[in-house]
Parts: sequence; structure tokens; C-alpha cells
Amino acid sequence: MADDDKRLAAEAALDEVRDGMLVGLGTGSTVAFLIAALGERVRAGLRIEAVATSIASARAAEGQGIIVRDFAGVSLVDLTIDGADEVDARLYAIKGAGGAMLREKVVAAASDRMVVIADGTKRVDAIGAAKLPVEVLPFARSFVTARLEALGAAAVAVREGGTDNGNLILDARFGRIDDPRALAAAIDAVPGALGHGLFLDEVDAAYVADAGVVTRMTR
Ligand code: 5RP
Repeated sequence: MADDDKRLAAEAALDEVRDGMLVGLGTGSTVAFLIAALGERVRAGLRIEAVATSIASARAAEGQGIIVRDFAGVSLVDLTIDGADEVDARLYAIKGAGGAMLREKVVAAASDRMVVIADGTKRVDAIGAAKLPVEVLPFARSFVTARLEALGAAAVAVREGGTDNGNLILDARFGRIDDPRALAAAIDAVPGALGHGLFLDEVDAAYVADAGVVTRMTR
């Protein structure tokens, strides 16, 4: 069952957490298992502090008794653990179904190490089938939509609700991404597109649990 695998992957990644670390907490249902397991360890004496990539994760962590620092005052994170919508053997990932990819990318960039936790349904041969979320300045909605279509998106949908940053999300369907680096660079260059869910260099390892078996993937 996917939930059991999410929990197993999350618990396996806790092996990477050490006393004294500042831990980046991702966002989503797999990270919810991580936060619960980390909370147990903290209550048992593990000394860590955290930064969160979303208001929801910050609240969940505080509810577990984990000290959560405001990332605005932080420039370096020891280890970030986050979920993904797709991850492939190159450790390329698509993130952002939960809408937090902009903060997640900032925290990942600040992190000495980033690991992904996922159930087996997220493991793919090559990323691209999942919708690619793009956080957009509301002012630039139509302009960025047109640019994404020009870059090959077959469909671009405005997601209901905004982000924690007060922006919109456009979900772009590319179907297949032949050159992820070129696409990432092209979206990065669109004014008004503030961040996207292509994570190509950030992920150092992934813990993927499939039918109860955890595999640790590295580059
Ligand atoms: C949020 C994310 C999530 O980590 C990703 O969508 C996976 O979520 P879940 O663990 O609920 O499947 O990128 O922005």
C-alpha cells in the first residue's frame, strides 16, 4: 500500500539525520510521515532544529515538538528531506503537486544534502509524464501560459488556490521531456515564472519504498 511505503521511505531517510543538524522539511503526504517519525526521535532525545518549505509542514513539525526556525534568517541547511512526484535513475525529479516547489527549491539550494523520499509509484524511467508545476506572479499569468505553450506544453491549467507566497501555480503537461536541462533553463528565463518543479541537480539520494522494500538510489 502506498501509505505504508511512504512511511517506510520516510523512516529509512531518518538514518541520515544526526544530532545538531538543521534539517529542511519538505512538503506533502510522504513528508508528513517523516515529520511524525522525526518528532518521535526528538521526543526521545535527538537534538535537531528544522526549517520548513511550507506553512503546513512548519505547523506539523511544531505540533511534534520540533523547533522550527524561520528560513528567512537561514542561509545554510545540513540536510533536506522532501517528497517528489516523479524521480528517475538520474535522480532527476519533478516536484510541486503539493504546490511548494519554489520554497522547496530555495531550501534545497541552501542544503548541503537533499534526499527524496517516495513510494514506488513515483519511480519512473524518465521524468516527464507528471504535470510540471510553475509558480507564477499573478500579473504574468497569461504571458507565462503562452510561453509554456511555446515551449511545448500540450496543456497549461491554472491551479485552484494560491501558494504560501501569494502567487499562482500553472500546471503544465509536457508528456515527455526530451531535454530537461534545456526546458528548466528556458522556464527559468521567462519573466514572471518564479520557480518550477524540475529538480535536476538538487537530489543527492532517494529512498524509494516499493511493496515494503526500500531502495536507496544515488547518483
Ligand atoms: C510539494 C511536493 C511534494 O513533495 C510532492 O508533491 C510529493 O507529495 P506526496 O508525498 O504527497 O506524494 O513537491 O510541493
